[in-house]
Amino acid sequence: MSEFNLVVLPGDGIGPEVTEQAIRVLEAVCQKYGISLHFEEFLIGGTSYDEYGIPITEEALEACKASDGVLLGAVGGPKWDNLDKRVRPEAALLGLRKELQVYANLRPITIHDALRDASSLKPEFLEGVDILIVRELTGGIYFGEPRTTTVENGVTTSVDTMMYSNPEVERVSRKAFEAAALRKGKVCSVDKANVLESSRLWRKTVIETAEDYPEIELSHMLVDNCAMQLVRNPAQFDVMVTGNLFGDILSDEAAMLTGSIGMLPSASIGDGVGLYEPVHGSAPDIAGEGVANPLAAIASAALLCRYSLGLEEAAKDIEKGISKLLAAGYRTADLYSGSEDETLVGTKEAGTRVLECMGFKQESESNA
Ligand code: IPM
Ligand code: MN
Repeated sequence: MSEFNLVVLPGDGIGPEVTEQAIRVLEAVCQKYGISLHFEEFLIGGTSYDEYGIPITEEALEACKASDGVLLGAVGGPKWDNLDKRVRPEAALLGLRKELQVYANLRPITIHDALRDASSLKPEFLEGVDILIVRELTGGIYFGEPRTTTVENGVTTSVDTMMYSNPEVERVSRKAFEAAALRKGKVCSVDKANVLESSRLWRKTVIETAEDYPEIELSHMLVDNCAMQLVRNPAQFDVMVTGNLFGDILSDEAAMLTGSIGMLPSASIGDGVGLYEPVHGSAPDIAGEGVANPLAAIASAALLCRYSLGLEEAAKDIEKGISKLLAAGYRTADLYSGSEDETLVGTKEAGTRVLECMGFKQESESNA
């Protein structure tokens, strides 16, 4: 029997509620395939700061590095917004990504038939949409130095640095080409090469790397145009590869095609341990109410099965369960339109219904 050690970092806000449902689903599906999972849980973000005065402990980082995969909820919230930048919740997440060297962040934009009307675009624009955004995650302006704020003659000036080296661009574009080879075979690299030096190196490196993937159709797009094309004709994209900041922005935009950012999972991978987290944040306004959408967290668990555990079947089971639940009309508040064929469910019941849709018998509705 295979065994895996997973680290769970529930984090802040709705993080713990949605992660709990993801774990239920993971445990059930792994049991079905005779896989045993061991979970070790640590604090991250504001909850870690409140307990230890730092947003992630060395112990938690070490456990992540030694694990077979990390499942994360969300970090941040207004309570911790005014902390020093070194101990802000976000610093823990960025530090973790850097420590694990998860340089490629995969954000699949999957349109569920049942959610076509929930999208902010008219349904006809969603025909054929299936995008994989590959966002560079451990470089660019998020990490570039210098990064300073100075005061001179009463004027305050802040600097961030957008920088890329060719090996950084090469390794993430390889992930994009490899992913595209298993899909429609198209990669669109997104940059701002008409203005930015770092983007010119980006484009040049992507073109050079593409020589190793002759079967892939490579195109380039400027980021401002891409922002427009995503709402004009999103079906033109297969795999998109882009830098850290552009990918952050474009993936939030693309999330709305699916109906809700509550639907978007992500996998952050490199050459070692993978990190899996829903793209939505900690949603402090609804935290603790049991109404958050756990589907992005559950779909992130599917990606963990696929990329870190090598359990493609289990990943597919979870993804099919999610589709089935939506087709059956179950909706959390973020997706609920009030129409007759929809049933409003809370976080825990959504998890229960996914399990049911995957064929795992659940005790009774009142226990949902
Ligand atoms: C994301 C988030 C993070 C990011 C924040 C919380 C630091 O927005 O994962 O997209 O900017 O990368
Ligand atoms: Mn973001």
